[in-house]
Amino acid sequence: MAQDDHDPVKGAATISDTGETFKSIGTSKTAETGQTGKIVKSVETVHWVFAQGGAGVHDDGRHDDGRAAGGRVAQAGSAQGAGGAARPPAAVLRRTLPSREIFEQAADIIKAGGLVAFPTETVYGLGADAGNEQALRAIYAAKGRPADNPLIAHVAKAEQLLQLCQFVPSLAQDLIGAFWPGPLTITLPALPSIPRTLTGGLSNVAVRMPSHPVALALIRAADSPLAAPSANLSGRPSPTVARHVLADLAGRIDGVIDGGRCEVGIESTVIALEPEGGIVILRPGAIGPDKLSRFGVPVSYDSALLASDNAAPRAPGQKYRHYAPQAPVLLFHSRIQAAALEELERHALALAATGAVVAALTVSAVASPSGARLWLPLSRTAAVHEVARGLYGALRMCDDEGVDQIVLEGISGGESAAAVMNRMFKAAGNRMLEV
Ligand code: TXA
Ligand code: MG
Repeated sequence: MAQDDHDPVKGAATISDTGETFKSIGTSKTAETGQTGKIVKSVETVHWVFAQGGAGVHDDGRHDDGRAAGGRVAQAGSAQGAGGAARPPAAVLRRTLPSREIFEQAADIIKAGGLVAFPTETVYGLGADAGNEQALRAIYAAKGRPADNPLIAHVAKAEQLLQLCQFVPSLAQDLIGAFWPGPLTITLPALPSIPRTLTGGLSNVAVRMPSHPVALALIRAADSPLAAPSANLSGRPSPTVARHVLADLAGRIDGVIDGGRCEVGIESTVIALEPEGGIVILRPGAIGPDKLSRFGVPVSYDSALLASDNAAPRAPGQKYRHYAPQAPVLLFHSRIQAAALEELERHALALAATGAVVAALTVSAVASPSGARLWLPLSRTAAVHEVARGLYGALRMCDDEGVDQIVLEGISGGESAAAVMNRMFKAAGNRMLEV
């Protein structure tokens, strides 16, 4: 049953189909930020909220966001971050489907040319009918996205590829069989009839089948492939919870389906297939060269990803400043973790001495770096998937806290860490201090 809920703080109307999911425990000032917020505790089942007119879904302060695995903003010197790191990923426990009513409502908006954000296993996407030129333009306008950066079309069944591509080469079929539904986007020869706005004028169209049940159900309900870029303002970190979407896009979109926290936390791998049979990674993601090299063809990175100059990337989005929080980020990396942390701490202390409020994001919860006012350990043991899942939320939290400077520890770990390191590097303005 849909139920109207009235947020006492924002006055935002929300519709929830599991009313009992929220246990409001009042309005208070949070000790850490001094901001007034409605503290909402979510129970073990997922809440699905559909916010109309881009109004706020809910404001849960610190609870259900993409925060660091450390669990709370640890004041430097405290053990809180490390202590909280044992909290298990909640998304799996919470996954139950919202009611059909919510999907019907969302699908009606999409069919009418509107924009609905929805969860995928990677990040939240901003969905529109991939065949509706005007709706596609509205995506660009809502995000402030450069017009030459094409969109990914999301499908729920392989037959929907016939609406998008001229043909599906046999290598693509093998990849689809192995990795769909999942975080792999493949660029394929576009049908001339699909909107140019979808492909940014390129001859290929990017397609993927997400694995998140809400994404799949929404595409089915809309009965059309959905174009969906990450549901953030252009240049901001991708959203990994519904609250991030609303922080960027409230008032600019028609709604968001809240599906809790995204499991992967960074965007899909984007690949192109070479005419002579190779696979080229245009954007690294959770499906790396290790997994892609099982198909008997060479796998390489787009040369623009490796070049330090401004070579034109084949995924146009890769050339833009991305994944960036408001505060500048200094990235430290070393194969010897202690060395990277030592350098990070030295900088944090020097910056703090100038009066700057410094946040330290570390890949494990070894020790709180001196000089940092906030410490956000992304994982307890530098597990790559945990760091990926927590990174964007932690960067956004630094913005929420109004810090002046972020010091970020890079992650080592071969191929599986490369995609995370790619995001960290971009957040740091394509600069890194190699120790
Ligand atoms: O995980 C994801 O891929 C998420 C979720 C929502 O599915 N979506 C996402 O979309 O990250 P977006 O728009 O933020 O990034 C799409 C990337 C951009 O770098 C874009 O340049 C590239 O894919 N891309 C899209 N179409 C392309 C094409 N035809 N050829 C080459 N690159 C393309
Ligand atoms: Mg994006």
